[in-house]
Amino acid sequence: MGAIAYRKIASLRTASDFQSYLDQLGVSLPFDEKMQSGPDAPLSQPFELDDKTIGNRFCVLPMEGWDALGDGRPSELTERRWQRFGLSGAKLIWGGEACAVCHQGKGNPRQLLINEHTVREIAHLRERLVATHEERFGGSGDLLVGLQLSHAGRFAHPNDNKRLEPRIVYNHPILDARLGLEKDYPCLTDGEVDEIIQCYIKAAMLSQETGFDFVDIKHCHGYPGHEFLSAHTRPGRYGGSFKNRTRFLTEIVSGIRAKTGNLKIGVRLSIFDFVPFSKDEKGIGRPEAASGNYQFAFGGDGTGLGIDFTETIMLLDLLANMNIKLVCTTAGSPYYNPHIQRPAMFPPCDGYLPPEDPLVGVSRQINAVAELKGKRPDMIFVGSGYTYLQEWMPHVAQRAISSNMVDFVGLGRMMLAYPDIVADILNGSPLKKRRICRTFSDCTTAPRNGLVSGCYPLDKFYRARPQFEMLKWIKKSLRNKQNQGGTRKWKKNS
Ligand SMILES: Cc1cc2nc3c(=O)[nH]c(=O)nc-3n(C[C@H](O)[C@H](O)[C@H](O)COP(=O)(O)O)c2cc1C
Repeated sequence: MGAIAYRKIASLRTASDFQSYLDQLGVSLPFDEKMQSGPDAPLSQPFELDDKTIGNRFCVLPMEGWDALGDGRPSELTERRWQRFGLSGAKLIWGGEACAVCHQGKGNPRQLLINEHTVREIAHLRERLVATHEERFGGSGDLLVGLQLSHAGRFAHPNDNKRLEPRIVYNHPILDARLGLEKDYPCLTDGEVDEIIQCYIKAAMLSQETGFDFVDIKHCHGYPGHEFLSAHTRPGRYGGSFKNRTRFLTEIVSGIRAKTGNLKIGVRLSIFDFVPFSKDEKGIGRPEAASGNYQFAFGGDGTGLGIDFTETIMLLDLLANMNIKLVCTTAGSPYYNPHIQRPAMFPPCDGYLPPEDPLVGVSRQINAVAELKGKRPDMIFVGSGYTYLQEWMPHVAQRAISSNMVDFVGLGRMMLAYPDIVADILNGSPLKKRRICRTFSDCTTAPRNGLVSGCYPLDKFYRARPQFEMLKWIKKSLRNKQNQGGTRKWKKNS
């Protein structure tokens, strides 16, 4: 699948090219033409969080590698990725990557899993990240490292990449059909939910033992924490009212507090969601038709394509009441509307051509976070979706921080291609243009085809691996298939 006629960022050579293209799109983004570096720069400013100082305003977002060992222990590839996170210079490491809290909750057979058997190696993973950071930057007293605790729910593939073993929260009118589930496919019972809650609590206790500064109770991307938030139709203790839909969260938090005392807790949250998208005959993403009031998009306005923050704010207030201030924002789900979450020019193999200029998606997330920050200034927000800005990312990031639109700028895909871009920005070194992520989406296409993730186009390490040849072959056969007229169907095992 090629890209369609949106202007590539690399072609917007000057600040005024960039600004006028934004004007043409009708998109507004914070922007500073002149970058500042050194200790006085906005992005270098420390942030005080309770008893801890976080040394600057960059955050590494969680980035899974589909490269752990079969039993959930990290592999050498996992360790390399985490070391590069430490090398980036960012002082907030949000979760490293999704780490399953139980075997059945693994999103793929090569996901990290935390339990008694794996905890030593996961501790080592954190230590290597910290040691790498110390070697490069001389200390780690101002580095905050968390672990993202996850259950893959309806997208679980614990045993085989090709065999979905869904654990669903409620019967979803569009997603169940996409996944090939019968109308009455059984939902998790309340008893099973109670068991999953216990797995989170145990995982948090192990995370504390290993020295993580905080745990993230993941509530995004269509996984159970997020799915519960829209479980209006679910009967029983975990569905219906707002109180019931957030019980999964509140019970995990109170269990963690009871068992760990002062372990910090954060929440990665899809602050809004849309209806699932699928490809039209040209391969472009189009929203699925939703009848009536679409209530399955948390933070949505009922149309399936608009935002209403009423419940998102209620959730922020609930977090504040539980003394949770750290919120890492994201949107939607990579499985059913990736363009709102990780804007890209080139879609992954199971995606679709962008239905809007990816800059529209970037600005939607940045402005949505600014609105929440304005409404709840005491909460600490990490922003996401900045990678697509490429060479203009630092200019947008600096202004977003200095105008208090967000507290930390989170970077995901850029961290695979060019992790030390953070150090370069903070030092005022010129950016290494050939290492900037151009959103080719190979980091997603590879794992969708059973390969490990990584930046195959730009990271020499992955280019030198035999899997790069396989990836090229896979992409070529997909292109041929498409040229022969067939658009690939969304596969339940992708
Ligand atoms: C290969 C890949 C792996 C990811 N793994 C995770 C993950 O483990 N947990 C998570 O919350 N988000 C994950 N994400 C989403 C990113 O954290 C981030 O939200 C997204 O890439 C948008 O930020 P960016 O524009 O800086 O890339 C992943 C994204 C990609 C492309």
